[in-house]
Amino acid sequence: MSAHLLSVDNLSRDYVDHLFHVARRMEPIAQRQKITRVLEGAVLGNLFFEASTRTRMSFHSAFSRLGGSVCDTTGFTFSSMAKGESLYDTSRVISGYVDAIVMRHPDLGSVAEFAAATHVPVINGGDGPGEHPSQALLDLYTINKEFERIGKALPGAHLLLTGDLKYGRTVHSLLKLLALYPPMQITLVSPPGLEMPFELIDRAENAGHRVQQRDTLQADYSDVDVVYATRIQKERFTQEMVEGFSLSSDFSVDRAFLDQRCSTHTIAMHPLPRDSRPGANDLNVDLNGDPRLAIFRQTDNGIPVRMAIFATLMGVEDTFDRGLRDVGWKPPHQVGVDDALLTSGPHGQKG
Ligand code: CP
Repeated sequence: MSAHLLSVDNLSRDYVDHLFHVARRMEPIAQRQKITRVLEGAVLGNLFFEASTRTRMSFHSAFSRLGGSVCDTTGFTFSSMAKGESLYDTSRVISGYVDAIVMRHPDLGSVAEFAAATHVPVINGGDGPGEHPSQALLDLYTINKEFERIGKALPGAHLLLTGDLKYGRTVHSLLKLLALYPPMQITLVSPPGLEMPFELIDRAENAGHRVQQRDTLQADYSDVDVVYATRIQKERFTQEMVEGFSLSSDFSVDRAFLDQRCSTHTIAMHPLPRDSRPGANDLNVDLNGDPRLAIFRQTDNGIPVRMAIFATLMGVEDTFDRGLRDVGWKPPHQVGVDDALLTSGPHGQKG
């Protein structure tokens, strides 16, 4: 891998396997059992010029749990870009302050442009409708863990990606990442006009995957192992598109869909945020508490995966677990109120 994490294009299968191995070793730290100070003295610049909860906070948390500290800026209003400063100048200036940078920006290619002006590692936290490589890595890490738990394997699996596949950068990165793996079946379901870009489908097919496109969820998906839903990215629509668009309830991934169209072992994932407002027809909140809903296990996995990204970019993946200490406080046994439900039921998640 290069000095930056800008696109899944820069990743090899060997690197991803290594990263996941490092992430597994990070789990006791991510799960608040152990403490490391391996990045003590290092500073992360967390630059978010577009809304974020998970990516911004989980990178912040990951760097902090490695012993580093974080300075951040959110939105253009409080950045000197509002005064016309270029990405080049901003990048060079911030590189003198920090040791790693995470950046989210609304323009396609902007994070790569920013990274071209610095030798400090830059991680793409989302560039408009482009890519979100760390999300794809934590998604695949989650799929592997879920499959391990329920005795499935990635080769030959059937993944269904649905929602806004045109503007959803997480699915762009995920489809590219899956191209590094043995053949599987990938079904793409989107409303008309929001289909996956052709070149990404082409790449998946050239990698040996069987890809089919559909425009409805009202079909038999009983052999699907993972349903990966995405939010409609209306903020990337033109005004004309916003006015002409409404998402049919047929696209809602809800309890009835999983019960009637999928199987008892189908996992439901989503990069989040899901749009929980009435009529949004996104991943439905009626699945809360259902063990098939993996979205919070998915967000939890963001910490060890992002810690592993920092560790590999900053050269501490072999040393971080020397001298680990026990935490000095009492963490909750289960983080969320629904998590205890996963200790029983057909999927048998343990703790
Ligand atoms: N999945 C994701 O990128 O979430 P945020 O927009 O909250 O960072």
